[in-house]
Amino acid sequence: MRSIPVFKKIISDYYSRHKRPMPWRQTRDPYRIVVSEVMLQQTQVPRVIGKYRQFIKIFPTIKFLAVAPLSDVLRAWQGLGYNRRAVLLKQFAEKIVSEYKGRIPADREILKTLPGIGEATSGSLCAFAFNMPVVFIETNIRSVFIHHFFQDKEKISDKEIFPLVERALDRDNPREWYYALMDYGVHLKATLPNPGRKSRHYVKQSAFHGSDRQIRSTIVKVLLAKGRVREENLFPAVCADRERLKKIIRSMSRDGLITRVQEYIRLSE
Ligand code: ADE
Repeated sequence: MRSIPVFKKIISDYYSRHKRPMPWRQTRDPYRIVVSEVMLQQTQVPRVIGKYRQFIKIFPTIKFLAVAPLSDVLRAWQGLGYNRRAVLLKQFAEKIVSEYKGRIPADREILKTLPGIGEATSGSLCAFAFNMPVVFIETNIRSVFIHHFFQDKEKISDKEIFPLVERALDRDNPREWYYALMDYGVHLKATLPNPGRKSRHYVKQSAFHGSDRQIRSTIVKVLLAKGRVREENLFPAVCADRERLKKIIRSMSRDGLITRVQEYIRLSE
């Protein structure tokens, strides 16, 4: 087993020389940090930076987001993909405004009950928004610990990694420590062949082309341009048979993205 102090020094030395500037690392506004963390759930930093800046310009406070029409939020989300995250982010804002007086609670258990916030994001929010010494794992952090502590092992579960995350944690400055871990994880990804592949929780992002995800994105695009559309008029835009399209529409409706009004489909409000 490699020593924790040596590990911490490697990460800190790397970070002191290579830390990456990001707009959400220059704010302490929990709302802005939530926006960035939700965007970063499935999208990489370079693609998020510009979108984040635009989004914050349009919705500068949680109140603006809570009262905005969903179509405006989805328009601002275009290019990030996984549109469901935008719906959940707006629901999150609505709930914070209606139930928490517009203030995001510094409490991991409460955060986990809110729309779009799971185990990992509740942790990253506590660390980045509130500088709390929480233990959490996400893709980049997982890669770092696997690379340093599980060189010859396969199918490593997060359960095995958590105690190490806890031992390595900088309790005086968890925020900066987690920035460092994430930056180092990105560095490993750029220099090693897929360092997360030995995780039991590793899932490869599926191909976009021809996927349900692509069809869902296209439907959102059509609805943003046209306002409403008949289901059968979606066929020229999407490459799917009737059954597949029906299923996708049902799932988008369940996710709160679209609503049926008589024979039309439109974005939910
Ligand atoms: N910095 C702050 N949050 C981050 C994240 N989720 N991914 C990468 N860098 C970050």
